[in-house]
Amino acid sequence: MADQPTAPSAPGPSTSPQPAATVVSNQPQLVPAPQTEEEAEDDFDGSDADSALGDDLASSTNSITSSIYEYRTIRGRTYHSEKHDSQYFTPNDEQQMQSQDITHHYLTIMLDDKLFLAPVKDDMEKILDVGTGTGIWAIDVGDQFPNAEVTGTDLSPTQPVWVPPNVRFEIDDCTKEWTWASDNFDFIHMRYLFGAVSDWDALIAQAYRCCKPGGWVQSCECDVIMSSDDDTIKEDSIITTFWNPLWRELSSKLGISFMVIQEGLQNKGFEKAGFVDVHEANYKIPIGGWARDPKLAEIGEYTVLAMINDLDGYTMVPWNIVHGENTPGYRETLAFLRRELRTLKSRGIHPYMKVRYVYGRKP
Ligand SMILES: C[S@@+](CC[C@H](N)C(=O)[O-])C[C@H]1O[C@@H](n2cnc3c(N)ncnc32)[C@H](O)[C@@H]1O
Repeated sequence: MADQPTAPSAPGPSTSPQPAATVVSNQPQLVPAPQTEEEAEDDFDGSDADSALGDDLASSTNSITSSIYEYRTIRGRTYHSEKHDSQYFTPNDEQQMQSQDITHHYLTIMLDDKLFLAPVKDDMEKILDVGTGTGIWAIDVGDQFPNAEVTGTDLSPTQPVWVPPNVRFEIDDCTKEWTWASDNFDFIHMRYLFGAVSDWDALIAQAYRCCKPGGWVQSCECDVIMSSDDDTIKEDSIITTFWNPLWRELSSKLGISFMVIQEGLQNKGFEKAGFVDVHEANYKIPIGGWARDPKLAEIGEYTVLAMINDLDGYTMVPWNIVHGENTPGYRETLAFLRRELRTLKSRGIHPYMKVRYVYGRKP
């Protein structure tokens, strides 16, 4: 095994947000399930990358994968990818699209099958999904609101062709001046744009302008830094030495945040833009199926699946930017990370990431 790269020194975290928002959340307590004797015995010895022994995912991946595709096939969804957009850190190919759809799936489970939290009205006419990705949220919301016109925008034309008649997609860079008319949309939805936006105030101000008075804007973001509440992520963990520093360093190098929650960027943007009735809902999404609560355990199976499905796609460009394209050790580091992610539960490691929803009404 090659040496792991030395963790780059991380820039200091910015100040915690002091949101003016009403905080709502009904997440079950995130605590680990007791380990079975078998799991405890299947301790990781670091010697076999592909062994099923100690591999938490080996038995569950197939059923998870087939069930999500069964669901998606029933809904008639297909995907295609066109070209890679060089301004954004993940590819836009099939592999990455799969991970985006798995992400949509676990976020939907997290919200108890709801697509959003904002208390929008039933007779919405126009909905905008900014940075729509595969368009999966826009399609689902189009199904739920057949009388609304739903527009999904993205840098990349990766959305399916066969979609509900009230859903359409456009290529648009959300960090540029929006060309939409003011007071235009009943609901503007933005999700998982971390790493894509350098000026969150400007983005949210544009959403405010284009939202109808009385309409709602909702932002959902994830901090990619992994934490544990029980100190089970150790100093020598690949999460500590590679994963977490990678995103801190990348944020600093690009001037684009991957820690939108920690920096309170959603809250600040909503406050500055002038929204009222601002609410925030915070969740801890477990990485791996280690949680005692069955719903959180299921979510954890999907989060780790989304990651392992395309670790390359998530980390290749960040590695090149942070460590340099020709710096050796990338493949070995990734193999090590993959092994760690596949054995979190059996090794008693309990990481999670934070997800925050902020939504507010335009007066
Ligand atoms: C992690 S994906 C999330 C997709 C979708 N919002 C979801 O939650 O399923 C981020 C998406 O943002 C898009 N994106 C990145 N930068 C963008 C920009 N400047 N303007 C519009 N879309 C952008 C990417 O192409 C990608 O499809």
